[in-house]
Formats: sequence, structure tokens, C-alpha cells
Amino acid sequence: MSTTENRAEFGSTLGFILSAAGSAVGLGNIWKFPGKAYACGGGAFLIIYLIIVALVGTTVMMAEFTIGRKTHKNAVGALRELNSKWGWVGGLGILTGFIILCYYCQVGGWTLYYIAAYITDVQTVWADPMAYFLGMLGANGFPLAAIIWALVFLFLTAFIISHGTAGIEKMSKILMPVLFILLIGLMIRACTLPGADEGVKYMLHVDFSTINTTAILTALGQAFFSLSLGMGVMITYASYLSSDDNLISNTGIICVLDTCVALFAGFMIIPAVFATGIAPGMGGGFAFATLAGVFMAIPGGQFMGLLFYFLLFFAAVTSSTSILEGTVSFLVEEKGMERKKTLVIVSCIMFVIGVFYTLSQVFMNLKGIWISKDGLQFPIFGDFLEYLTDRLLLPLGAFFTTFFVGWIWGTDKSIEEATSDGKFKFGLAPVYAFMVKFIDPIVIGVIIVAGMVFGMAIS
Ligand code: TRP
Repeated sequence: MSTTENRAEFGSTLGFILSAAGSAVGLGNIWKFPGKAYACGGGAFLIIYLIIVALVGTTVMMAEFTIGRKTHKNAVGALRELNSKWGWVGGLGILTGFIILCYYCQVGGWTLYYIAAYITDVQTVWADPMAYFLGMLGANGFPLAAIIWALVFLFLTAFIISHGTAGIEKMSKILMPVLFILLIGLMIRACTLPGADEGVKYMLHVDFSTINTTAILTALGQAFFSLSLGMGVMITYASYLSSDDNLISNTGIICVLDTCVALFAGFMIIPAVFATGIAPGMGGGFAFATLAGVFMAIPGGQFMGLLFYFLLFFAAVTSSTSILEGTVSFLVEEKGMERKKTLVIVSCIMFVIGVFYTLSQVFMNLKGIWISKDGLQFPIFGDFLEYLTDRLLLPLGAFFTTFFVGWIWGTDKSIEEATSDGKFKFGLAPVYAFMVKFIDPIVIGVIIVAGMVFGMAIS
């Protein structure tokens, strides 16, 4: 069907690393990670997270990369080519991506809202950061502005996808390093705010009694979300690579970059939480309300805040495009739909579902409503989309991907692809094979089940 000849390839290895890192580094690192680290007990959570990234994250990423580059196809087509019965795993990923993007675009819209706020109304934001954040979400009436910004964000994502990603590749080369440097600067400032040392201590204090199945499942889901794993995005990205590219070192670089950004964000935001006393109950407030305390405390804070939200927006766009591209390339390549029409239809449905995410935060006050049954608690809409994707669908996607590589396609074939038929050295190949075949599916499977059975109550 689709031939490899007429598919684009990345212009350079750097272009690929930046695109894959651009997909990985996003709202997950800066908006989600600090909130989860805070809720799940700081230091102990960090350790669990790092172990999961180092062992599970890297191997799942490598598995996805080898599938993609071997076949040069989108997630569904790639799995189907390797084994005609396995296309549905790619399909599961497409569904997951669709759900993620419903709420991702809403939060992406919040970044635009804050860009506008820092330009026009920074004093109001700073006067009462938490009230401002809740106001955006509908505490004072229907949150029309937030929803319109989400629409703008979704429109931009779709617009970029419809024009190819060359522009975004170019922008990534400049803006990702700027984001990296800015984060380090802000982290240092946040850690030196009066009272911030308590936050640093919190992040370094290791108390394993805070770790339960919920925390482990959270760390696992967060790792997959942050590294863009479990829904075939990395399969699609690697499908544009040639055998001259070294998948082994690329995997390492992308995992390290992504994890550094998450850690910087954690050590920027948590100390700020302690210094400012603003500890919002919802994860969403961290990157928005809490950081106001940091920007207020630095010279040129308005400009720095503006720059920060612009970079956060940019990081979010390079991620949202990667997710939308997954869904759209599937519908176009596998279902023969027309690209522009697909984009419009998919975006409209995502927008309608996503609006309820923003509305449910404060306006409809669905956040705190739970169905309790037999001692288990199920969140209704507010965070339901997040729980569904992070705790179930992404781990499931990763489970089936590793099971597929380990037991159906074969680790020897995957390793052959990883080394470009022996061209690159892969000293850890036996470890990789062992992880993909045994540890990954077992660990992921057990954590999913344990999380479902014991962990529904949200800490
Ligand atoms: N990794 C991105 C973030 O941290 C989100 C993302 C992009 C993603 N592509 C994905 C998550 C694919 C899961 C799967 O914000």
C-alpha cells in the first residue's frame, strides 16, 4: 500500500532528536509532573519515577523505535505489517491519543490565556494568583475566555499539522534550548526564595511509607505520558528515520532530556509552593497559580513570566501536534480519508469533549464528585480522562507493545533493527531483550491490575 519511497525522512539526526524530544517535553513535564511528585510524597516518588524511566521507559521507547523504523509505517500499519493480527494495538494507541488531546488542548489553551494575562493584566494575576486561576476556570461565571483560547490552541495544532512539520522542526531547534535554559534559571531563583528550602527538602526527603500502589501506578503512567510512549507516537516518528540513525543513543538522549526537564520543573515549582504557601488542590494550578510567586520575586518578572508561558505553550504545541499527527496519519493512510477533512472532523469532536474538561474543573464543580462503590472511588469527568489514559490506556499500550516485540516479532529482530544490522554497538542488548520479554510485560501488567484493584482512591 503506502510505499516507503514517497515518505519524508527527517532532515538530520538533530531534527529527529528535537522532534522526538519536542513530543516528549510538554505539559506532562511542567504541568503534570510537579503536581504528582507533590501529591505522591516527594523524594520517594522521584526515586520510583527515575527507576521506571531508566528500566521500563527506555526499553519501551526502544521497542517502539525499532517497530517504526523497520516498517516505515504509522502505528497501525507498522504492527500489521509485522504481524497481520496485531494492528489493533496501534488502534488502541490512536484512541488513547484522541482522548489525551481532548484535555491537552484545554490546558494548552490555559497557557495562551496566561500569555495574554501577563501582557495585559499581570497585576491582577499577582494580586491573588489562586483566585485568578480559579477565575479563569469559571469561579466567577462561565469560563468562555479559557474555552476560546483552547479552541485557538487546537486550531493552531491542526493548522501546523496541515502544513507539514518543517516549520516546527526549525522552531524547535531554537526554542527548546531556550526553554531548557530558562527552566534552569527559574529553578535556581525558586530554590532561593525565602522559605523555599522546605520544598527542596520535601523533594529530597525519601520516605517510602508514602509509596503505595497508587503512587507506583501514577509514576508509571506519568513516565509513559511524559516520554510519549504507549500510543505509537514514537513508532510513527521513527518510521521517518533511515538506518544511518543510531536508535540506541537517540533513545538515551531523549529519555535523559525529558527527565531533566521534569526534574527542573519539579525543583522550580515545589520550592515555590512552599515559599508562597500556594498549594492548589488540583494539579493544574501548579504551573499557573504557584509560579506567580516566583515571577513576582524576580526583576523583570512580567517579561520572564511571559517568556515562560510562551515556551510552555511552545512545548505543548510540539507535543499536541505529535499526538494529532498520530490520529490523522492513521485515518489518512489506513482509512483513506482526506487529510484536511479528517483534521476538521477530529478537531471538532475533540473540542466538544475537551470543553467539559475545563468546565468540570470549577464551573460545574464535578472535580470533587465521586461515585463510591464497595469502598472504591471513581472520579467523574473532571479527571476521568486523565485517569483513563495515564493509568489504564498508556500502560496497556506499552504492555502490548513490549509483549509484541518480546513474544511475537522477536527481540532478536528488534535488536537487529536497533543496531542497523550490526552497524552500531549495543552492549546492553541482552538486558534490553530480557526487559522487553519478561520484566516489562510482567511489571506493567501487575501494576495495572494492582492499581485497578487497590488504587482507585486518589491521594
Ligand atoms: N509527552 C507529552 C508531554 O509530556 C505528551 C504527549 C505527546 C504524549 N505525545 C504523546 C503522551 C504520546 C502520550 C503519548 O506533555
